[in-house]
Amino acid sequence: MNSVDKIFAPALDLDNRLADAVTWEHGGRLWPSSEQQTLTCCRVVDETHDIKSFEFRTADGLPVRFEPGQFMTVSATVNGQRVERCYTISSPPTRPFLVSITVKRVPGGTMSNWLHDNMKAGCELRAYGPSGTFTPTAAPATKSLYLSAGSGVTPLMSMTRASIDLGLNRDVIFIHSARTPADIVFREELARLAKLSPRLRVFFVCEGVGDESDWQGPVGRLSLQLLSQWAPDYLEREVFTCGPAGYMSAVRGLLAEGGHDPARYHQESFDITADVAPAPVAEKAETASGTFTVKLSRSSRTFTMSASDTVLSAAKKAGVAVASSCSQGVCGTCKTKLLEGSVDMKHNGGIREREVQKGFRLLCCSRPTSDLVLEL
Ligand code: FES
Repeated sequence: MNSVDKIFAPALDLDNRLADAVTWEHGGRLWPSSEQQTLTCCRVVDETHDIKSFEFRTADGLPVRFEPGQFMTVSATVNGQRVERCYTISSPPTRPFLVSITVKRVPGGTMSNWLHDNMKAGCELRAYGPSGTFTPTAAPATKSLYLSAGSGVTPLMSMTRASIDLGLNRDVIFIHSARTPADIVFREELARLAKLSPRLRVFFVCEGVGDESDWQGPVGRLSLQLLSQWAPDYLEREVFTCGPAGYMSAVRGLLAEGGHDPARYHQESFDITADVAPAPVAEKAETASGTFTVKLSRSSRTFTMSASDTVLSAAKKAGVAVASSCSQGVCGTCKTKLLEGSVDMKHNGGIREREVQKGFRLLCCSRPTSDLVLEL
């Protein structure tokens, strides 16, 4: 522990307790990720030329409890089709009366274009409660390194805003990569927050200068050299990364090359926020054989399905509406109670062990091993 850490150690301990007590326990009402409610848009903020923040309050005006870094699944009817997408929450849980998502307009993206073109103050949107495990509570640390690219900045922004709102003085190095200076999301706010908290240091690296010919920062991609220059103690830091898959893969490569402990690396799968039709989970290589019957207890419907299919895919083929988003066992949207029977579930963190114990399963990554009865 260096001298600065010795000075701050007691305060950091208090910081962690404060964060636990204020942010996560008392930040608002619990809104389960399996429950949809209506949100009303209060404000739309232009962040960059193709990124907007949409701020919502709940229909009853009550505060919402969530953890920084979590996401919401929003649902809308676009061209007669129900579309669901996950977006990480960019606002902090310390402002629980508003939840905001920050969305990049993706060429051809169904939900992002619909939001950009239609969502205005006063409009309503249905959403499932906050979910996700990409939060600092999972890995409390005295020193953190936040690495983001593009709109992957959003969960890290929620963490940073929460920390500043609580008056914490956490040792955070925040490095954001963007295409050009004009594409840097929250550029001015991050610079302002860094002034408020001397232990928050913010750096930007851009692939090109675009129209900002007097850009003073580095041009190129994040390199081990830049990382070592801006965060010389990165080996001691808990790393939180969010961005496109290629970016996160490059970051993992850099950190591995530098000798960073992978156990202290956390990333948000940007794929869950991608505004494209979700790809179905790959079919099993070893083809499971057989046909099973699936009964739905609420609608009294029954359909048969192949053992090699996921329950979600079979339900959709049978015309059963099941809420889903990522189709990869990440977001938790398709969580459903299994009343009878058994499935082989291979998820990617979208469900907790205690939920499994209570009988819930993620239908997008579950294949039947017997006839099933679902609470649907
Ligand atoms: Fe995301 Fe199933 S749709 S976990």
